[in-house]
Order: sequence, then C-alpha cells, then structure tokens
Amino acid sequence: MTPTAIPTAPGENLLGHAHHFQSDRLPFFRRVANTGDVVAARMLHRTFYFVNGPKAAHEMLVEKARSFEKSPGIRILLHDLAGQGLFTSEGDLWRRQRRLLSPLFHPTQLQTYVSAMNGEALRVRERLREGERTDLAAEMTRVAMSVVGRALFDARTFDEADELGEALTIALGWVNNHMGRPYMTLQISAIGMTEVLDGKLPPWLEDVRVRARAALDTPIFMPGRNDPKIVRALEVLDKRIQAMIDDRRASRADRNDLLTRLLYARDADLGGEGMSDKQIRDEANTLFIAGHETTATALAWSFYLLSRDPAARAKVQAEADAFGPEGPTSYDPEKLAYTTRVFKEALRLYPPVIVLPRRSLERVELGGHSFPERTVFFMNVYGMHHRKDCFADPERFDPDRFTPENEAKRPKSAWIPFGVGPRVCIGNHFALMEGPVVLATLMRGLSFEVEPQDVEPETFATLRPKGGVWARVRRRSA
Ligand code: HEM
Repeated sequence: MTPTAIPTAPGENLLGHAHHFQSDRLPFFRRVANTGDVVAARMLHRTFYFVNGPKAAHEMLVEKARSFEKSPGIRILLHDLAGQGLFTSEGDLWRRQRRLLSPLFHPTQLQTYVSAMNGEALRVRERLREGERTDLAAEMTRVAMSVVGRALFDARTFDEADELGEALTIALGWVNNHMGRPYMTLQISAIGMTEVLDGKLPPWLEDVRVRARAALDTPIFMPGRNDPKIVRALEVLDKRIQAMIDDRRASRADRNDLLTRLLYARDADLGGEGMSDKQIRDEANTLFIAGHETTATALAWSFYLLSRDPAARAKVQAEADAFGPEGPTSYDPEKLAYTTRVFKEALRLYPPVIVLPRRSLERVELGGHSFPERTVFFMNVYGMHHRKDCFADPERFDPDRFTPENEAKRPKSAWIPFGVGPRVCIGNHFALMEGPVVLATLMRGLSFEVEPQDVEPETFATLRPKGGVWARVRRRSA
C-alpha cells in the first residue's frame, strides 16, 4: 500500500485542517480517530498523519521507537519553559539524562514520597472549612505542586503555589496559543529544508546551514514573548526554581531527593563531571512542570466524574474509610484498588496529554504504509481513548474497565495516557500512586458537593476542566 491509500481527515478547507486545531480540537480528534488507524491531515502545504489505533501506536512508540524523534515543534514551543530537559531532549543527551533520573522513580524509591502525597492532601483537608465553596481544580494544582516540591525538591512550595501556579498558567497559556499555528508549521518546514540540504552545499554555505539549523530549534516567531505579563511569568518560574536549587546547594544535609541526585550525579559519559547548571535547571523545571499540572487535572476530573456517579463515589468512600483518620500514610495498591480504577478511567476520558507528536528519522513502515524520513505524526491519545472498538460505550464513565481481567482483554497500547515505549512518562508510577493517595486522604475527612453543571474540557497545555470544578465542602467526622 502507498501513502495515497491513506484516508484523509474530514473537514479540510483551503488551509487544510489547521482551523480544527483552534476551533473544535476535541471533536475533530474523535472524528479523525474513527476515520482509520493512520489518517492524513494537512496544514498549509504540509501533510502530516494522525496515528489513532493501538497497533499502529505500539508500532510507532515501542517497536520502531528508534525510527522516530519527538517533533521539533515541541522543542520550539517548550524552549523557554523546559529547555533541554528530559521531556524535550533527544539522542545521547536524552539517553544519559534518562539513565541518571530513572533511579529516582524506581518503585522502592516511590514509597518514600507517599508521606509527601498524604501530608500535602492533609494540609488542604485541614484548611478547608465546613460549607466553604472551593474550586477543586485549583486545590488539586496546589496539592500536586506541593507534592512535587516536597518529594522531588524537598522544598515547600505550598505558600508560593498561587504565585507559581499563576505564572505557570500564564506561561503555558502563551505556549498553548502557538500550538498548531501556521508559523510553527513554516518553521518546521524550514528545519526540513536545512536538513535536506545537508551535504549538498559548498563548504562556505555549509556553515550558514548548520547555524540556521541550530537557530531553528529555538522560537523564531512566537508573538507575545516580550509582553510584560509573559516576561514576568517566565521570570517568576525561573527564579523560584533557581531558589530551590540554591537552597539545595547551601544545605549540608545529604538528602535522598531529586535535586541532590541532579547536583551530584556523575556519569561515565560525562567523564566523571557533573551536569551543567543549565542542564540541572532544565531538568528541575521539566520535572516541576511535568510533575504537577498533569496529575492535578487528572485529580480534578476524578472528583468531577465521581460527583456524577454516586455508586462509584460510595466505593471510593468505603476504601478511604478503611484507613485510619489520616488516610493512606503508606502505599498498598490492594487497599486503593477501586480508587486507582477511578483515576485510570479519568485518565482515559480526559487524558491530560491529548497528543504525542513524532517525526520519522528515516523511511519507515507504519500501519502497512510507507513514509519518508521527516514525516510528522500525531499520536492521537484522546481520539484513541474514545474509540468504540477500543472501549465499548466510550463516553460512559466506567472504572471497571480497569479490573485486571478487563485490562488483560484490551489491545496492547489502547490506553496510553503516559505514552508507551522508551519515552514513556518517567513519573507514571509516581502519578498512579499520588492520584489515589490524594483522593483517599481527602475523602477520608471530607465530602464534596460538586455543583451540578456540565464541565467542558478545555485544551490548554493539558486537558483542563474549563472554569474549574466548583464544590461545597462538607467535613466528615473522623
Ligand atoms: C497523571 C499524570 C501524568 C501524565 C498524564 C503524564 C503524561 C506524560 C506523557 C504522555 C509523556 C510522554 C510524552 C511523549 O511520549 O511524547 C510524559 C513524559 C514525561 N513525564 Fe509525565 N505525566 C504525568 C505525571 C508526571 C510526573 C508526576 C512526572 C514527574 C514527577 C512526570 C515527568 C515526565 C517526564 C520527565 C517526561 C519525559 C520522559 C522522557 O521523555 O524520557 N510526569 N508524561
């Protein structure tokens, strides 16, 4: 089969499908997922491909992972926020950093973070008053931000959560605004052109080509970068993270946290040298950003979904009530089995990361089609999670999709909120522990009367509940 046999996404106009990314992204992603396993779409003159089916997903992200890199678009978009951290780096740098960071996320290591997860949820629980009206999405951002701060940086970010949260919201909003814009497509095309010219130019022009290629990995045109609001937001983020690094450097205690490892990590590839300050900053920024926004939105959606399903809520409540007054202070997956299913189902219906962009590094076969080097693909996580042939009655909230028996029946790679393969989320087990621990800790002491209006998902940097999840707090006796 040749690429011409690949179905095209519905709703094309003169500029291609770009308008769908701005106006109706989620319905479009669902329509595309139901069109086929691999579907072509167009942005200006460029064709790219949606990957929508579990088999093709597995092929691209696991079996042939070495034939792909993340799309340069993600590096450009996140350049000012995450630099060359684990999320955006590639090749040898990524391999080395993944090796250095992996021990931090080893299951035995994760147990040591449970007290931070439980402790930060308890702080919120103690603060909330009977009858108070609160936005659970904002509360979850505070909890998740503090958990990352405590577990990974051994720092209490809770008090700065509002300032940091606001700065991050502004910065991510700015980044989000540029996603799928025609000028980003043009910059990616320019990258392709500089690469095609590799080895074809006279020596005096080759130098220009190399410099142009490097420059194109940074944002050439991202309007708003000089807007005082954006400048300040990026400054707040940088300064706060830098302050955490400085605190850690000044501290004499030998603590077993992420920053200690980043500061003292030595790798044979580095010739026994440590990482540069900039690399440490990028990794710290990356983990801080990647480690809370995603978990917070999944928690907010879990509360929302539970508010609409009294039977599921009662089961989570029963699990929470089986713990002592403080909720889970250590992690036992058996004791949080149903709560974990709820969290996983929230991640299916509202995957915080809806799409995983990739670019082929060589000619590659995918889903029975052959694609040339430098083809851009979008792994349509959201669309696949809503496909009928992957999840029966896909719009229904049903935590029992995640019983061990039902999970075993599902095609491999049909549920991939954390991605899959070598670039799988390094924090996936951390998040799958944090979500249920926080839910159970809060529900052990509180119940929430969530306001009954429908909450729409908003495609922000993550898939957030638009307008938040507002609830009236009820205190329960311990
Ligand atoms: C519910 C919570 C979370 C979700 C849904 C999520 C989702 C993801 C996804 C989809 C990827 C892969 C992107 C790709 O393949 O293109 C990823 C990567 C990553 N995540 Fe998460 N994540 C979550 C929590 C966390 C946490 C708690 C941390 C750290 C504390 C974290 C740190 C990272 C990092 C560093 C990467 C890059 C890994 C690499 O490329 O080697 N994430 N995440």
